[in-house]
Amino acid sequence: MLIQLARQRGFCYGVKRAVDMALSNIDPLKGTCTLGPIIHNPQMVNHLSERGIKVADQLTDVSEGVVIFRSHGVGPEIYRQAREKSLQVVDATCPHVKKAQLTAHKLMTDGYQVILAGERNHPEVQSIYQWTEQKAIIVGTPEEAMQLSFFAKIGVVAQTTFSGAMFQKIVDILKSKCNELQIDRTICTATDERQQAAVELARQVEVMIVVGGKNSANTARLAVLCSEAGAGVFHVETAAELEPSWFEGVHSVGITAGASTPEWLIEEVYRKMQEFDQTLNSEVNTLETGSI
Ligand code: F3S
Repeated sequence: MLIQLARQRGFCYGVKRAVDMALSNIDPLKGTCTLGPIIHNPQMVNHLSERGIKVADQLTDVSEGVVIFRSHGVGPEIYRQAREKSLQVVDATCPHVKKAQLTAHKLMTDGYQVILAGERNHPEVQSIYQWTEQKAIIVGTPEEAMQLSFFAKIGVVAQTTFSGAMFQKIVDILKSKCNELQIDRTICTATDERQQAAVELARQVEVMIVVGGKNSANTARLAVLCSEAGAGVFHVETAAELEPSWFEGVHSVGITAGASTPEWLIEEVYRKMQEFDQTLNSEVNTLETGSI
C-alpha cells in the first residue's frame, strides 16, 4: 500500500507561532492561560494543559499571571481590560489577522461602511468586528450581500480563512451597492494551499485520512473537498481511531491534516498506517503460500 502525505498539511504559520509563544511564556508561579482554546484540537489543548497552560473562557476568570491571546485575535476592549488587571499579555494574534483588524479599523475611521466577509460566529471575525467598534456588517454569503442597503463608500475585508471564490462573489455584488468600493483581500494563503494539496492528493489515491479536531472547521472542510475529489474519506483525531478494515484491498492512501493539527499527531497516523500495511501484507503472503 502506497502511503503519501499531502505536500502542505497541518499547522499553519500563525498557529505554530501561537503554540510556540504559549510554550515559551509559562509562568509557573502565577499561572498561564489562553483566552479560549488556542486551537481547535483537543489533543494539543491537553498537551498544553499538562504543561500548565489552562484555558480561560473569559478575562473575568483570570486574576493574575500570563494571558495568551490566540491567533484569532481579540478586540481592543480585551487589551484594555488585561492592562487594567495588570496581567502579562502574550499577544499571539496571527500577523495576518492583525492586518485584517487594523485594515478594518482604518476603513471605519476613514468613513467607509465596513463589510466583513466571513462566518459570523468565528472568533476571528468577532475580533475584527470589535476593531470596527461593532460597526462592520458581517456578510457570509452572496445572498446576504444582496440584502445590503446602498452606501456612499464601502470597504470590504475578509476573514483570513474565507473562501477566495466566495469573497469574489460578494465583492461583485458590493460593486452595485456603493459609489466607491475599497477592496482589501485579507485572505491568508495557508488555507488555500492546504486545500489544493489535499485535493491534488485525493485525486490520486483511493482513500484519504484527514487528521484533525472534530471541532475544527478547516479540517472538516478538507474532508469534504477530498470526498468531492473522489477519494473515500475518514476523518480521525488520533491514530487510535484508525481501523484496519478501512484499508483492506486498498493500494493507495493519502494523509492530510487541518491547520490546527500538530505534526506529531500526523506522524502517529503515518506510523500506524505503516503498521497496518505490514500486517495486511503478511496476511496476504500467508494466504498466497497457503501456510497458517
Ligand atoms: Fe494566520 Fe493564516 Fe494560520 S491567518 S492563523 S497563518 S490560516
